Amino acid sequence: MGQETLSNLLRETRRFAPPADLAEHANVTAAAYAEAEANPEAFWAAQADRLAWTKPWDTVLDWSNPPFAKWFVGGELNVAYNCVDRHVEAGRGDKVAYHWEGEPGDSRTLTYADLQREVSKAANALLELGVAKGDRVAIYMPMIPELPIAMLACARIGAAHSVVFGGFSAEALRARIDDAQAKLVITADGGYRRGKPSALKPTVDEAVAQTPSVENVLVVRRTGEDVAAGDRDVWWHDLVDRQSEQHVPEGHDAEHPLYILYTSGTTGKPKGILHTTGGYLTQAAWTHHAVFDLKPETDVYWCSADIGWVTGHSYIVYGPLANGATSVMYEGTPDTPHRGRWWEVIEKYKVTIFYTAPTAIRTCMKWGDDIPAGFDLSSLRVLGSVGEPINPEAYVWYRHHIGKDLCPVVDTWWQTETGAMMISPLPGVTDAKPGAAMRPLPGIDADVVDEHGNPVPDGGGGYLVVKRPWPSMLRTIWGDDQRYIDTYWSRFDGMYFAGDGAKKDDDGDFWLLGRVDDVMLVSGHNISTTEVESALVSHPKVAEAAVVGATDPVTGQAIVAFVIPRGGAAGVEGEDFAAELRGHVAKALGPIAKPRQIMVVPELPKTRSGKIMRRLLRDVAENRSLGDVTTLTDSSVMDLIADKLPAAK
Ligand code: WT7
Repeated sequence: MGQETLSNLLRETRRFAPPADLAEHANVTAAAYAEAEANPEAFWAAQADRLAWTKPWDTVLDWSNPPFAKWFVGGELNVAYNCVDRHVEAGRGDKVAYHWEGEPGDSRTLTYADLQREVSKAANALLELGVAKGDRVAIYMPMIPELPIAMLACARIGAAHSVVFGGFSAEALRARIDDAQAKLVITADGGYRRGKPSALKPTVDEAVAQTPSVENVLVVRRTGEDVAAGDRDVWWHDLVDRQSEQHVPEGHDAEHPLYILYTSGTTGKPKGILHTTGGYLTQAAWTHHAVFDLKPETDVYWCSADIGWVTGHSYIVYGPLANGATSVMYEGTPDTPHRGRWWEVIEKYKVTIFYTAPTAIRTCMKWGDDIPAGFDLSSLRVLGSVGEPINPEAYVWYRHHIGKDLCPVVDTWWQTETGAMMISPLPGVTDAKPGAAMRPLPGIDADVVDEHGNPVPDGGGGYLVVKRPWPSMLRTIWGDDQRYIDTYWSRFDGMYFAGDGAKKDDDGDFWLLGRVDDVMLVSGHNISTTEVESALVSHPKVAEAAVVGATDPVTGQAIVAFVIPRGGAAGVEGEDFAAELRGHVAKALGPIAKPRQIMVVPELPKTRSGKIMRRLLRDVAENRSLGDVTTLTDSSVMDLIADKLPAAK
């Protein structure tokens, strides 16, 4: 995020006003800002009242022990009841909760009544396996209906789930199971990706061979491919199908753990972000209602994310279901069997609200305008974006080619840690600017501050912070309160440090500029440089590695690695070695972390204190002339590196 990008963004002058009809009937109007400003706690209490509580709360917010917040203290509720049963009890049991579309073209429809039966059976199955309130359950699954069912079953009985993205490696899964001390793993034989079955069970087998906490592995049959039978394995269809369809949900404390979701940090070990019950559901549900203007009776909503990321947790599972929405859930990739698959799904289910990521939008741009033009997308009325800054070109393309210039685009800024949206336009209120997340939502006190923590004036840039606790904030890092304090609450006194750079334009609107630290954002996923470096140096032929994120037109950032081979190691030149290392990283961290480019170099640029100067390597990776090299221990190092590089000159 150089100055160049910044000034380009701020030269953007286009504005898109809300469609009149949408504005007139909007769920949330401009009055919400003033109302929330006058009394944020009363505002959030009103949103919490949209849920069903089995015991009312005594205190909205307890901030007596910062940064450890408690919301809706003393209150009790059941998340699964709120997401499922209460809609059935209100006579909406026949309403579709999910139109599920498998990649091979099979489909399933689940009504709220179906969900109630399936979730109750799954909850009874977990209890039979000895899972109790307070336990942790790891979930490693493809995008099939049993995934939200499993999550809701955990929520129902008060066991915290830890969903691990199905693209992660056995080692990544093992580390996450171990950290949470999960008692059960729920998985499937596999799922369908890019037109063929993609196995998951062998990865689980490899992981659980080294996780003594795991007592059972519950396996859904999806692909029908052979799986090795371990002595802890139980088939879903054997166990869950024979359970009673009755399960009475009890209320759990508002601060009872709902889930852990791991996110990469700058320092090696992933952070287990802990979300709890009442505040999380309140904000996930309200933001979904407000930012998408969801009308549960008529809308068909689709978020294209994987449930393995927080976007899927909050905006495929908890937010939409709490609001009684009808959603689409799609198993596979956007280009299988053809590059119009997404638009075909929108046409088939008459999707009205679509939520996706800038990296996907850029990919679709690359594939060509004629592809979406071949489908009827006239059902759409609101479009959303999340995951990284959306560049104005992609925004305008999305608005024009997908939204036909009729749908507002909401650019929603938030994080795994924030649990739900924090900064976003409101589709019936905001005159949106392409590329800007615009304003903090009602009830959210976010700001941009300089390095001393002072607010920057309009037109200024700095660090994004949140100044007041919000209901869906992370409560801690699982098992590591100190790291929670250090990572988020130590940079600026009394403020949450998001780790993102941001700019306020002359109107005071927010533009997000990406991570300020060394976390790379590849296709919307945070990947830490340290994690990839550790993976590289775990290869026997690698002595040292430095990894940077280089700007990439499709993935946002791409991983570029510089490696120093071990002295005397043979076969450390050429494409074969690079391919070997890429495979090694994929095995350690998952394919998403594979470097785009690997450069073998004799030295790495370091400061006197021994820190790698990634800034200079980024210059090399992006084919720029070098910045300031004066803090290098030895400035000739850069010449040595440049000499070695074929592409970067
Ligand atoms: C980081 C959080 C929130 C779900 C997906 C990612 C970046 C996210 C935006 C946006 C600019 C964005 C930030 C943030 N980010 N949305 N609308 N504009 N940047 O969750 O993996 O926790 O990543 O994604 O850098 O800190 P995550």
